[in-house]
Amino acid sequence: MFLSTVIPVTTFNIDNGHVVGECGFHGKRRYGMLFIYTPSFLAGLASFWLFPDHNLRFLLLLSALTFHFFKRIFEVIFIHKYSGGIMVDSGIVISLSYLTSTSIMIYSQYLSQELGEPLIDLKYLGIVLFLLGITGNFYHHYLLSKLRKNDGDDEKDYKIPKGGLFDVVVCPHYLFEILGFVGISFISQNLYALSFAIGVILYLIGRSYATRKWYLSKFQAFPKHVKAIFPYLL
Ligand SMILES: NC(=O)c1ccc[n+]([C@@H]2O[C@H](COP(=O)([O-])OP(=O)(O)OC[C@H]3O[C@@H](n4cnc5c(N)ncnc54)[C@H](OP(=O)(O)O)[C@@H]3O)[C@@H](O)[C@H]2O)c1
Repeated sequence: MFLSTVIPVTTFNIDNGHVVGECGFHGKRRYGMLFIYTPSFLAGLASFWLFPDHNLRFLLLLSALTFHFFKRIFEVIFIHKYSGGIMVDSGIVISLSYLTSTSIMIYSQYLSQELGEPLIDLKYLGIVLFLLGITGNFYHHYLLSKLRKNDGDDEKDYKIPKGGLFDVVVCPHYLFEILGFVGISFISQNLYALSFAIGVILYLIGRSYATRKWYLSKFQAFPKHVKAIFPYLL
């Protein structure tokens, strides 16, 4: 179950915590990221039609996953200002791993409808966490995008991000991404979604830790009290 979330860890070439590559989509990361996210978005969208018999929990999960990938695509087109590229082979593996995990999450939810409702209902708390996660993630992506005028080869430099939770952690966008996936696992209350959320948490903690290390090595003035992902803790 962890495989689908672990694959990106092994295929990303992490330098400063960001994905870099040498061939294929190099200089065209936007296309690469669209290639990565679009199949999962389409799988979510198609599931509304493929699985017409559903309860509220299933409908909420489908909506959350589809909206999550819609937002990613929106950000790739309108928000992020990329440097560098992404390797074609990595792009294919990551795209397939997202598609596989999204499809399994949807299908396992569809099958588990027959098991009845859990004793403690977490789906409404899940909706709140998901909305908080997706909003906070978007806001911090917007702050990151303000650090560069344009994307492309002429604007590759990195700056110390400011504003929002950037004043206390290096990767608040990952923190909110985690909240979003915890929200999805609460909406689902299914073992696969929980495993997926745990995989995301472990991966993004590792990636934020690498990103903080990189900021400390690159910027002498980088404030040491700024943690990696959890304010005042880690
Ligand atoms: N669920 C998961 O397992 C998972 C895994 C990975 C990502 N994600 C989500 O996807 C989002 C996007 O991830 P990503 O890998 O594409 O990018 P990212 O590393 O989160 O960075 C997002 C954008 O901000 C730019 N940026 C970052 N730090 C910067 C700085 N100091 N100065 C100037 N620009 C900076 C990046 O530029 P560059 O082009 O130079 O990198 C990129 O365009 C994440 O924030 C997270 O929400 C989720």
